[in-house]
Amino acid sequence: MKIGLLHTTDAAGPPEDPVLAQLEDALHGRGHETFRAVVTEEVEPLISQLRREAPDLVFNMAEAFGGKSALESNVAALLNLLGLRYTGSSPSGLMVAGDKALTKKILSFHQIKTPQFATVFRGALDSVGDLNFPVIVKPPQEDASLGITAKSVVHDIKQLLEAMDGLQKEFKSPVLVEQYVEGREFYVGVLGNASVTALPVIELDFSKFPSDKPRIASYAAKWGDDGEGAGAEFAGTESVFPTGLDAELAGRMQAVAVEAFEALRLRDYGRIDLRVTDAGEIFVIEVNPNCYLEKSGEFARAAERSGLAYPALIERIVELASARYAR
Ligand SMILES: Nc1ncnc2c1ncn2[C@@H]1O[C@H](COP(=O)(O)OP(=O)(O)O)[C@@H](O)[C@H]1O
Ligand SMILES: [Mg+2]
Repeated sequence: MKIGLLHTTDAAGPPEDPVLAQLEDALHGRGHETFRAVVTEEVEPLISQLRREAPDLVFNMAEAFGGKSALESNVAALLNLLGLRYTGSSPSGLMVAGDKALTKKILSFHQIKTPQFATVFRGALDSVGDLNFPVIVKPPQEDASLGITAKSVVHDIKQLLEAMDGLQKEFKSPVLVEQYVEGREFYVGVLGNASVTALPVIELDFSKFPSDKPRIASYAAKWGDDGEGAGAEFAGTESVFPTGLDAELAGRMQAVAVEAFEALRLRDYGRIDLRVTDAGEIFVIEVNPNCYLEKSGEFARAAERSGLAYPALIERIVELASARYAR
């Protein structure tokens, strides 16, 4: 098969995403031919290239358009308009999952637990249920923990107003205020379409986290850099296969992940982020369609753990996508 690797450049990030070479290795090993196509802020060269190359399938790893993650779904929409087949979720799946408030509304409809929340934008308040301190304040349409710091978890009105003000200035978008869920954090990868299966559960271990900071995967914890002594947060988080995790709880987490994936009508693969209270209550924090496929990332490691080595995982995604179009 001829497969186009569609990816985004990130001016702020490293020059080349390691996942590209990893995917190429995996796909070449399975006898596929590949080319790279980059999504920038100019759409014409991309359209010409895709028309010229005419791939059998596009491996869609585009996470933004022109640096805007809110435009992610439009890239998939463009592939639809060009009549191309591609891996991962549809524009509507990407759009809904990319909007945390909308995601939560749909999850609630399906009786999947997600923290209570309110959104506020220029005085317009959209809220459901009761909120009590502490709450976490975040931009509803960003990813990779952009805009999430230790100060995002607030305990009183003054801190809340400050956090909201900061976000509104930075992102010029609505602000999401969400019930803070104290507890453990887990990631569950899922694969499939007609029959969706969950991968082994991974935990974000906070046991070495600085005790004076809220236990969240803040920008500093994820990427190790925000200037203010962030190193300790980065060093203090590690994703692990939890030992001694109650099998019943793990099974319930996997079931919730599959339900959330299906509720949002996602396709092929995704990763669901969960928080679990000491009482064993499971809350969906975020649903990530087309999640990051880097070999050492949570999704690929979980797949490997389930017996799907990296090349087999990538081939499975190609097969899942191709099978959708064959119907
Ligand atoms: N309601 C919440 N309760 C507790 N922690 C939360 C909550 N929402 C987010 N977090 C923490 O913040 C991190 C980033 O939030 P998330 O919504 O996943 O944003 P992103 O899309 O940037 O990953 C989560 O991994 C979790 O550690
Ligand atoms: Mg997340």
